[in-house]
Amino acid sequence: MDLLSAARDVREMAYAPYSNFKVGAAIRTPSGEVFQGVNVENVAYPEGTCAEAGAIAAMVAAGYTEIAEVAVIADAPLPVTPCGGCRQKLREFAKSDVKVTMATTAGETLVMTMGELLPGAFTQEHIDEG
Ligand code: THU
Repeated sequence: MDLLSAARDVREMAYAPYSNFKVGAAIRTPSGEVFQGVNVENVAYPEGTCAEAGAIAAMVAAGYTEIAEVAVIADAPLPVTPCGGCRQKLREFAKSDVKVTMATTAGETLVMTMGELLPGAFTQEHIDEG
């Protein structure tokens, strides 16, 4: 499955009545499973969750803990990059060479690696006992 299409398809389901900014995300595991997520906002604004977080939650609930590729899409003037918190959430399961495709519904794309999006990441290696 084309990962960007999976993100585009699910975006319609986003619950974003406060920002009107619907985001779709899709992640693929090394074995080829695809999980989708959307942003889910809340009347208590900080309680909203991002599309990436939804996709990660679906993946973990299905028993997978490794991300091989990420796609994110929104109806925006330029490709939407994952917020800082989502970079850290993705990095938990995605190594630094994982490809992240960011896109607009108009067809513009931006491709970066996880490491480019989150250089100097705080990872599990930092808490390994010496
Ligand atoms: N949002 C995402 O879901 N993912 C991103 O990568 C950027 C921002 C959501 C959060 C909020 O519901 C809306 O977009 C506006 O910030």
